[in-house]
Formats: sequence, C-alpha cells, structure tokens
Amino acid sequence: MPMIRLHDKNFELYLTASSIAERVNSIATQINTDFATKKPLFIAILNGSFMFAADLFKQVSIDAEICFIKMASYKGTKSSGQLVTAIGLDMEVFARHVLIVEDIVDTGNTLHEFLPQLQHQQPASLQVAALLHKPEATIYPIQVRYIGFSIPSQFVVGYGLDYNGLGRNRPDIYRLSE
Ligand code: IMP
Repeated sequence: MPMIRLHDKNFELYLTASSIAERVNSIATQINTDFATKKPLFIAILNGSFMFAADLFKQVSIDAEICFIKMASYKGTKSSGQLVTAIGLDMEVFARHVLIVEDIVDTGNTLHEFLPQLQHQQPASLQVAALLHKPEATIYPIQVRYIGFSIPSQFVVGYGLDYNGLGRNRPDIYRLSE
C-alpha cells in the first residue's frame, strides 16, 4: 500500500487520480445536461476545492462562469467550528443558477453558514457539487446534488486537500493511517 508522510503523520493511498478523474468527468457530463441553457455561475470555495474546480470546469462544455471565495474552519485534522471569510464574493448572484464547488462536505458547517447568505441574494437556483462527502460526520444536513465519493468519517489529503498546509499537490487522495 503506497504511503506518504506529511509533518508527523502517515497517510495511505485511498482514491487514485484515475478514479477521481472518472468521477469528475461523470459529474461534468451531468452538469452539462442539467445546466445546458442556464449559464451557471460556479462558486468554488478555496483553498481545498481549487483542483477539483479546475478539473471539473475544464470538462464543462456549456456556457458557464466561475468565481472563488475563501472560507476556512480547519486547523490540523479537526474542524475548529469557527468560520472565517478571507476572500468574499465579487459576483452578482441574483437570478443566477449557482453551483457551489466544494472539496469536502464534512460537518456541513461551512455550507450551513454560506448557503443562507447566498439564498438571501435570491439566485434562480442553488446547488452543491462536492468531490467528497462524509455523511457520518454531518452535523448540519446539507443537500449535495453532485457527489464524487461518499466516504467514512476519516481525515484525507491530496488533490487539493491539506494537512496543515501539506499534501495539496498530490494527484491521488490519501487517508490517515492508524
Ligand atoms: P465542513 O465545514 O465541516 O463541512 O468542512 C468543510 C471544509 O473542511 C472542507 O472544505 C475542507 O477544506 C475541510 N476538511 C474537511 N474534512 C477534511 C479532510 O478530511 N481533510 C482535509 N480537509 C478537510
């Protein structure tokens, strides 16, 4: 089992780059159909979603826009529960078909805070695409329309996700090894 070490912890290979690419492509195909005439606005939540958002957006062949916001609630391998907005939204959301792009929906805290703020601006529709979903970790139930992989409640890194800043550059996803 291929392993990597980041800071003080070992991680084992969990999802390969090719299995991720396959899921990203099928989500993009679905989005191309569902939003065909809707010129959707993708809002990717930094930092973790940058790789997923880029790969997904490249496979979107319909007219679409993308912008980025930055929110964070994680310190190390635990959610602090406290959300900080570092880069705000610079796009008009009113009457737009909005698709939020997230790396992981874990406790649901980030989207529980952010979705009502967006809803307030009256988008035509509001959906979420998440590469990973940890249903067992959910505290705030969030409807995720497009899910790459549902995974158990375990800490993962790679493909944009980090452990204290490291691991984002790995093309595969690794899980914390006991
Ligand atoms: P939530 O607000 O608890 O749903 O968590 C959302 C954010 O926490 C995600 O967008 C990630 O950036 C981060 N996060 C959650 N789980 C993990 C993980 O297993 N590895 C790395 N980051 C994570």
